Formats: sequence, C-alpha cells, structure tokens
Amino acid sequence: MSAARSSDPPARPPARPPARPCRASHVEMTEMVLPPDTNYHGTVFGGRILQWIDIAGAIAAQRHTHRKVVTASLDDMHFAVPVRLGDVVVLKAAVNYVHRTSMEVGVRVEREVITTGEREVAATAYLTYVALDDDGAPTVIPPVTPESPEEKRRFADAITRREFRLARRDALLARRSADEAASG
Ligand SMILES: CC(C)(COP(=O)(O)OP(=O)(O)OC[C@H]1O[C@@H](n2cnc3c(N)ncnc32)[C@H](O)[C@@H]1OP(=O)(O)O)[C@@H](O)C(=O)NCCC(=O)NCCS
Repeated sequence: MSAARSSDPPARPPARPPARPCRASHVEMTEMVLPPDTNYHGTVFGGRILQWIDIAGAIAAQRHTHRKVVTASLDDMHFAVPVRLGDVVVLKAAVNYVHRTSMEVGVRVEREVITTGEREVAATAYLTYVALDDDGAPTVIPPVTPESPEEKRRFADAITRREFRLARRDALLARRSADEAASG
C-alpha cells in the first residue's frame, strides 16, 4: 500500500451502516439467585444485579452494532423490590436510542415467582455503551428505528435523558469555573 501524500483528498469518514430496528437488539437473560449472590439478609447483592444488568445491556449493544462495546455510564439505577435466595430473575434489554458512536440501552429486571409464574419489576437501569473499531477507537454505529408505540416512547425518553445528562455536566462545569474565578 502506498503512503498518503499531502495532495491526496482527505480520507472520508466511514459510511454510516443502515438503521436497524430496536427489536433486533432484544435480549432476555434468566438467572437463579444462589447463596453466593446473597448478603446476610438473604437478599441478592445490588452489585450482582448490576453485573447481570451490564452483561444483558452489553449483549444488546453488541447485537445492534455487531461491534465490541464498552460501558461509558450507568444512570437511573433503581431497585424496586428485594430479590431473595432461590428467586428466578429475568432481565430484558434493548437499544432505546443511538447517537453517533454511543447508544442508550434500557434494562428491566423482573423477579419471577416460580410457583405461580407471576412477575414483578425488581429493578431498572439505563446504560450508555460506546462501540469501538478494530483499533479500539469510538466508531459510528447504525441508527436505531423504534417501531412499536412503546419503543417510540423509550426513544423519546432517551433523548430527554441525554439532554438532562448534558445539561447536568454543563451546569457542574460552569459552577466549578465560577468557583475557580471567585477564588482567584
Ligand atoms: C467511553 C470511551 C470509549 C469514550 O471515549 P472518548 O475519548 O471520550 O470518546 P469521544 O469523546 O469521542 O466520545 C465518544 C462517545 O462516547 C460518549 N461518551 C463519552 N463519555 C461518556 C459518558 N461518561 N457517558 C455517556 N457517554 C459518554 C460521547 O458522548 C460520544 O458519543 P457520540 O459519539 O454518540 O456523540 C472512553 O471514555 C473509555 O474507554 N472509557 C472506559 C470504558 C470502560 O472501561 N468501561 C468499563 C468496562 S467495559
């Protein structure tokens, strides 16, 4: 391969892959709560639920992008009900929204009562993953197409959450620089 010359036209950024539907990224993962997963209250460690959430979320992100991904952030993590030893836990994850190289994945954790088959929401979280190219740099990913009314609501909610994240970051930076300016 010949070296690039200064007279060569600038390299084009890689073309954006075509959009994929939210449903193509859907993940369902089932776990049973075993003794090593629990604390001395007999309920599951929050950290164990977080681990399962991150695994389900990363699989959804990789299904969407067909790329390696890293977890950039996790927010709005809520534990709604305790999960106990012997409970069955079902995690559902899907890509809600895609920006350029990053995407928001929503994960819902359901506690299943195995004797009745009833389920209740035990936890929810939103995670941001960034897709990486073969050199480990962030790379542009396919847009996501919400189809069902629920997917459209999640897509719109994800845009609002992104705006809040950016506004929060900007507000913190502005206050810190005001503090620095005031302290000389
Ligand atoms: C995530 C990471 C790749 C971003 O790298 P970076 O140099 O900041 O890259 P960029 O500034 O080009 O940003 C890339 C994207 O990440 C997003 N991003 C970066 N930091 C973020 C954060 N804290 N939360 C949410 N999104 C973030 C940017 O908004 C951008 O998204 P966009 O392209 O869709 O607009 C880098 O910070 C990293 O490797 N972090 C460690 C990840 C890790 O080890 N995770 C745990 C194990 S998987």
